Amino acid sequence: MRIVMIGSGYVGLVSGACFADFGHHVTCVDKSEAKITALEAGEVPIFEPGLDAIIQQNREAGRLDFSKNLAPSVGEADVVFIAVGTPSRRGDGHADLTYVYAAAREIAAAVKGFTVVVTKSTVPVGTGDEIERIFREEFPEKDIAVVSNPEFLREGAAITDFKRPDRIVIGTEDARAIEVMREVYRPLYLNEAPLYFCERRTSELIKYAANAFLAMKITFINEIADLSEKIGADVQKVAKGIGMDKRIGDKFLHAGPGYGGSCFPKDTLALVKTAQDFDSPVRLIETTVAINDNRKRAMGRKVIAACDGDVRGKKIAVLGLTFKPNTDDMRDAPSITIVQALLDGGATVHAYDPEGMEAAKDILGPITYGKDPYEIAVDADAIVIVTEWEEFRALDLKRLKTVMKDPVIVDLRNIYPASEVAKHGFGYFAIGRKPERR
Ligand code: UDX
Repeated sequence: MRIVMIGSGYVGLVSGACFADFGHHVTCVDKSEAKITALEAGEVPIFEPGLDAIIQQNREAGRLDFSKNLAPSVGEADVVFIAVGTPSRRGDGHADLTYVYAAAREIAAAVKGFTVVVTKSTVPVGTGDEIERIFREEFPEKDIAVVSNPEFLREGAAITDFKRPDRIVIGTEDARAIEVMREVYRPLYLNEAPLYFCERRTSELIKYAANAFLAMKITFINEIADLSEKIGADVQKVAKGIGMDKRIGDKFLHAGPGYGGSCFPKDTLALVKTAQDFDSPVRLIETTVAINDNRKRAMGRKVIAACDGDVRGKKIAVLGLTFKPNTDDMRDAPSITIVQALLDGGATVHAYDPEGMEAAKDILGPITYGKDPYEIAVDADAIVIVTEWEEFRALDLKRLKTVMKDPVIVDLRNIYPASEVAKHGFGYFAIGRKPERR
């Protein structure tokens, strides 16, 4: 199959590289000349474990190339994926579809024979219909089927998620498109990954409903965590206890500082707006969005409370800035709000993150960056663990205690056993568990 991927951002690059790895011929297109030049020079503009090796192997095998112009490759393609950004529109929170429709028009102009055009970007319900209308009215002579095929890739685990998906959702009722999509995903089908065919609108809603449900699950356990703290229960044990019920499941029940990233905040908001437009509000999700926003600020207050209610003039060491480990992505990261709350409270903030510091520099206020946890802990009044990077899981507590001014750890990801930290003489404040005071 000849595949063209429009948009070489996170989703486009991972999907394009993995399709090439299946044996298809893939051209990844992007309007950014700098991005294409970098990719052609062998540089991968995002941090995703394993991606650079797959890109390199498939370029060498002649199955993967990059281009700034979509027309030549689209003319030859069996399938064209639209994987351009759909940011939240400024002002109203709706998904901004400008790039999607612009790409669709360009594709239609370049298409030659029968071509399947697939939306991989997360698009509101009805976007496929609108693209089809554009094709029908503006390009009536072209033979194009429009399909929805949402992605469910987690940053940091995207290659595994692509190659071992729980399911592949494909929204189309067009018989020719169904055959083409079967062929595209045949290598996974042989791996027994279920292909789930449904109507296009249903497929579009599945994506939003899946992300909203996961965001709600996280928010649920975060509220149970707050309650646990107040009533003396342990949220990790509660999560385990309810997660053993197969109807609930044990995934996405880690209490923390609130969800962030490029998907959950944007997609929950877009679903809320769509539902309001259709006069069918999704109140659970509206509440989820509000709780999660408040939570990030509340985490700042939690740190201040752990520092005896006042951080003015104190030094706080922040471990982890990205919205989750194994990514350099800072989009909607809880660290942004937490750091701001600490700065507002008069603290000086020193931070370290294994991959996110470059991106953080453009976003965070006046803070100091260090080269490792021990450096930023020198003379600190508290350490705050915001992101659960592997290298933070086994810190040398003895060493930290000797360099810190005041041995306090606020663990917003619950990665330490309280008794172990307390044994070293630290004050320890976690999420949804009993604090250990010095
Ligand atoms: C998510 C979805 O998982 C993926 O299927 C979708 O297509 C894109 O959005 P991603 O944003 O990369 O992926 O990360 P994910 O692992 O889902 O985490 C999102 C946020 O939720 C992070 O901030 C993470 O720290 C938080 N989270 C996740 C929790 O706080 N607790 C959990 O139990 C799980």
